[in-house]
Amino acid sequence: MKINYKEAFEKTRIAGAIAAGALDEVAKIAKPGIRTDEIDYLCYEFINDHKAYSAPLFYRGFPKSCCTSTNHIVCHGIPSEKVLKEGDIVNVDVTAYKEGWHGDTSRTFEIGEVSIKAKRLVQTTHEALMNAIKIVKDDIHLGDIGAEIQNYVEKKGFSVVQDFCGHGIGQHFHEVPNILHYGKKGTGEKIKSGMIFTIEPMINLGKFETKTLNDGWTAVTKDKSLSAQFEHTIGVTEEGCEIFTLPK
Ligand code: MF3
Ligand code: CO
Ligand code: CO
Repeated sequence: MKINYKEAFEKTRIAGAIAAGALDEVAKIAKPGIRTDEIDYLCYEFINDHKAYSAPLFYRGFPKSCCTSTNHIVCHGIPSEKVLKEGDIVNVDVTAYKEGWHGDTSRTFEIGEVSIKAKRLVQTTHEALMNAIKIVKDDIHLGDIGAEIQNYVEKKGFSVVQDFCGHGIGQHFHEVPNILHYGKKGTGEKIKSGMIFTIEPMINLGKFETKTLNDGWTAVTKDKSLSAQFEHTIGVTEEGCEIFTLPK
């Protein structure tokens, strides 16, 4: 991965703010009765209004501007006429492409009141991401990130999806290195200041296994248990990291 600090950070900051801004808008309409393709339209419009492109649209044939992954869908859910109802959880994953650079972020929203189990899952997933971000700085190992997430999540009785991972990001949507959300401390390559990547743990209430449906995209838990995800794009510095996709 190329290390080209200043411009990369400046441009990713801009793309990241647009992606996060789209999710801030989604938060306002994520209520019982809304269709997932209405969320998609909102993201499309928001990103367009900010003179950016939605990176998922037509990416390897993906048909929509964001991913909407409800309940047992792990990731890459395709927005549709599906109506969200009270008690659902839905991850919305948005990637803005602006002036040649990408910002990628997702949040899991609770639709109305959700079960205590669902709430715990969503909260734990968010905490796992933020805890992992806190340990990121120059010279740590990639395995430190995975271990941090896996240990935290498994202590709570949940499981970490292994079939999908975070990724380097920059002028391309998906770059090296892969950022695994499980692993062992002190293993894997060292990360260096200037690197930009995502961390995006997918956490299941039941077992970790997933399968992909016939549409070629939608990944679900094999045991049909609930799954949650949060994602940030971050840039590594000497002392820590900058999060480019924070909510307002
Ligand atoms: N945004 C997803 C990620 O976090 C990738 C979605 S690819 C798509 O890497 F084609 F499904 F949109
Ligand atoms: Co994403
Ligand atoms: Co990503």
